[in-house]
Amino acid sequence: MRIGVLTGGGDAPGLNAAIRAVGRRGLGQGDTLIGFRNGWSGLLGDGDFVEMGRPTFSGILALGGTILGTSRENPMKRDGGLDEVCKTLERTQLDALVAIGGDDTLRVAAQLNELGAPVVGVPKTMDNDLNVTEYCIGFDSAVSVVAEALDRLHTTAASHHRVMVVEVMGRDTGWVGVMGGLAGGADMIIIPEFPVTIDEVVAHLDSRLHAGSDFSIIVVAEGVEMEGLVSKDAVAEARDAFGHVMLGRRAVGETLARNIEARTGHETRTTVLGHLQRGGSPSAYDRIWATRVGAAAYELAAQRRFGDMPIVRCGNVEPARIADVVAEQRRVPRELYELAQVFY
Ligand code: F6P
Repeated sequence: MRIGVLTGGGDAPGLNAAIRAVGRRGLGQGDTLIGFRNGWSGLLGDGDFVEMGRPTFSGILALGGTILGTSRENPMKRDGGLDEVCKTLERTQLDALVAIGGDDTLRVAAQLNELGAPVVGVPKTMDNDLNVTEYCIGFDSAVSVVAEALDRLHTTAASHHRVMVVEVMGRDTGWVGVMGGLAGGADMIIIPEFPVTIDEVVAHLDSRLHAGSDFSIIVVAEGVEMEGLVSKDAVAEARDAFGHVMLGRRAVGETLARNIEARTGHETRTTVLGHLQRGGSPSAYDRIWATRVGAAAYELAAQRRFGDMPIVRCGNVEPARIADVVAEQRRVPRELYELAQVFY
């Protein structure tokens, strides 16, 4: 079999573990592995790809980022883009393509499958917002970074009796915020799923002060909207290639911090964790599960189950339709949010 692989969207720790799993599984069966560079860009025009032999996969399990490079190139937004991709698949005589990515990358994969292209997917996003699957490559590593950051910020918060606002990624959902906040013992977590007002934030800080806590750590997700403070419409129109507003530029954390300080007089500082959350080496959990979903994607390709992708449900790897995985966004359930509130 000739099998292609690409990584699209934001990089995430664990991508290389998945590439390695597809590659080593394929080489073990005598297949030829083709790596496409920089996401869907690698299949546009003349294509940008390379044959990957065994040495390519050596030493990459613990490596962050993606050896194939990535981009947010969207062939659906380019005239004839999907046709170009299909032509590259034909020209390179691929029997299957494994597309590793989040909702944007997988939406292209689902569309290509509709056109008859032999594509399978792999779930990757540090935002953890894909439908159906309980695991996405990169999320565990991101949560670990947030937890470690909160541990470190606790010492300054406590020593200086400050409010520390920590802005985390996650796009339109609060998975990184709520799980990172739970793991790091945040004193308040603000996520898009459960909006709060600045009055509620101030009231909470006051109540903590009266209860004897003279410092607080607030985790705020980049996608949060707060009445009168930050709204999606107020955002600079900077968008990425997939058309998403670049949420980091809204400075939600800093805006919140300035308002807290103005309203309470309590010294407040902001930390924006930004791309640190998806940088560096993958956690052991991401290495293991990226390996499992990568290997399972290879099996789906070998079985010609195109339009499918491995997902994790109840601790097992199972197949699901890519179209179902991208059909809607998975959002943080109230139960989890309320659990975090117990520790405020
Ligand atoms: O989707 C992953 C993600 O890290 C989001 O959490 C964040 O909003 C976005 O990518 C940042 O994208 P970029 O790397 O293009 O700045």
